Amino acid sequence: MSTNQTIDDQKRAAAEAALEYVKPGMRLGLGTGSTAEHFVRALAPRAVNLNLTVVATSERTAALARELGMKVSDLNDVRHLDVTVDGADEVGPGLVLIKGGGGALLREKIVAAASDRMVVIADAAKVVETLGRFPLPVEIVPFAWRVTAERIAEAAARCGCGQNLMRLRGGEAHPFTTDSGNYVADCAADAIPDPERLARMLEAIPGVVDHGLFIALASVALIGTPSGVKTLDLPRRMAG
Ligand code: 5RP
Repeated sequence: MSTNQTIDDQKRAAAEAALEYVKPGMRLGLGTGSTAEHFVRALAPRAVNLNLTVVATSERTAALARELGMKVSDLNDVRHLDVTVDGADEVGPGLVLIKGGGGALLREKIVAAASDRMVVIADAAKVVETLGRFPLPVEIVPFAWRVTAERIAEAAARCGCGQNLMRLRGGEAHPFTTDSGNYVADCAADAIPDPERLARMLEAIPGVVDHGLFIALASVALIGTPSGVKTLDLPRRMAG
């Protein structure tokens, strides 16, 4: 394989490799972001023959899937999914992820949690030893967002993060709004030494809707690298 691959080539290769996990009649969750978009585009021509039921993790993905001829179902009706294929901003040890760079973390987590398997697709740069270089997205309610952001920063400091700089996505004048009408506060933590502890602390803050730490949700990651797609599996003991 050529070594002058672009990052986008790696994303596409990982997305195409995920087609292996799609079987006839499956109920499938479609992720959000540029890598997930490659997957949706690769899947679309096969979707009818495979008799798939698909659910989307964002309005953006739903619109793309419909544009490509797929019927998008409501998770309320489908209830349970076989597989969700989604991207990630960082893939850490134990397949703990940072997600939400595209602002879809809440729906992404709901869909992943409703799935038997979450297949992560990403380029090689996303794989890290310690999570946190990518600012952690936290979805928060607009009411008193500054107070909530301060409490997130305190939690990051108490969890021993490298730093805890908060930024309201989109800025105060034009805050980014999620599909569920919330804001996103990005926490530049630099390093998150204990993601489980930080996750628990964030979940206890009133005003936090959800955070971009995905723990015990991914079961496999397909990583596009200059030498082909590598599969990262959970160690047997964690996979259960
Ligand atoms: C969206 C996400 C994306 O999966 C994540 O941001 C990765 O995006 P990309 O595939 O464009 O690199 O979590 O909320």
